Amino acid sequence: MSRYRIAAIPADGIGPEVIGAGLRVLEALQRLDPELRLDVKHFPWGSDYYRKNGVMMPADGLDSLRNFDAIYFGAVGDPVIPDHVTLWGLRLAICQGFDQYANVRPTRILRGLESPLRNCGQADLDWVIVRENSEGEYAGNGGRTHRGTPIEVGTEVAIFTRAGVERIMCFAFELARQRKRRKLTVVTKSNAQRHGMVLWDEVATSVGRDYPDVTVDRELVDAMTVRMVMKPSSIDVVVATNLHADILSDLAAALAGSLGIAPTANLDPTRKNPSMFEPIHGSAFDITGKGVANPIGAFWTAALMLDHLGERANAKRLMEAIETVTASDVRSPDLGGTARTDEVTDAVCEALAGVPAAAG
Ligand code: IPM
Ligand code: MG
Repeated sequence: MSRYRIAAIPADGIGPEVIGAGLRVLEALQRLDPELRLDVKHFPWGSDYYRKNGVMMPADGLDSLRNFDAIYFGAVGDPVIPDHVTLWGLRLAICQGFDQYANVRPTRILRGLESPLRNCGQADLDWVIVRENSEGEYAGNGGRTHRGTPIEVGTEVAIFTRAGVERIMCFAFELARQRKRRKLTVVTKSNAQRHGMVLWDEVATSVGRDYPDVTVDRELVDAMTVRMVMKPSSIDVVVATNLHADILSDLAAALAGSLGIAPTANLDPTRKNPSMFEPIHGSAFDITGKGVANPIGAFWTAALMLDHLGERANAKRLMEAIETVTASDVRSPDLGGTARTDEVTDAVCEALAGVPAAAG
């Protein structure tokens, strides 16, 4: 029996709806595989918790999570509480506190879905974006002085350390090496940003020497947006800074059909701390509580989590069930359908039963 402790933090907006759906699918998977056992504990943290307690999570929050095997996270963000408070109080506090320095965002067009690029005859994409997740533009380094006066100053200083860049490069090269095409695109803006970004280029060159089997190319981030649209099949693995990859991954998700399907893993590759898995989409207040959120992003996220836990066969089995459903006409409104969250969830649970265990 393989037993894992999962901390569920559904948090804000549609987070509880999609994490609830994801947990239902994981239960269905456990019914089919009696060897798999997920002990899930819920943590009621987030913006409602903040309204009652003045903090997004308790001061010893990280300690309560430390002994879990993985964290399954919904979304943070609230219409009233400022975004930087909710974000730094919970999601970034966990990412930084657990040194989850590698943010991994796979993108491909799931069976049956259509890319907005289809009319350009460019419908083929299969990418993994590796986002530096511990420093860079999200380092939290800066300040404000002369507040409220005409001479007010705000600084937001991006931090790039050799150690930080080296470890994300090694991670990206290792990942590229495991894929069929073995290609890595290093994205920077080293023409205009002549310090930290030049350090990225230099470190990429030196780390690359250990990976002669990986083909490397470089792209400036602005040109990368064009390449993603015009030559999607030329891209395999991409490594970029925290902010650049944040932006590129939204574009990637849209090009794959919808932001509603895209997953993320926030990994501590050393495995000293638990890693955290979340759908990319965020809290989506416009549809919160309506029961129409697309749970596919949370399901794909659950597959990434299983994969990280070493449950490769179950991860594949779940992906197979997800794609059986995306290929059917059971689709949520963001994918042009009318199915509700529950209906998509039921369909994936049903499809799971039809996927032979050997498919995994
Ligand atoms: C993401 C999100 C977050 C980020 C937001 C919610 C701050 O856009 O995970 O991509 O920028 O990291
Ligand atoms: Mg983003």
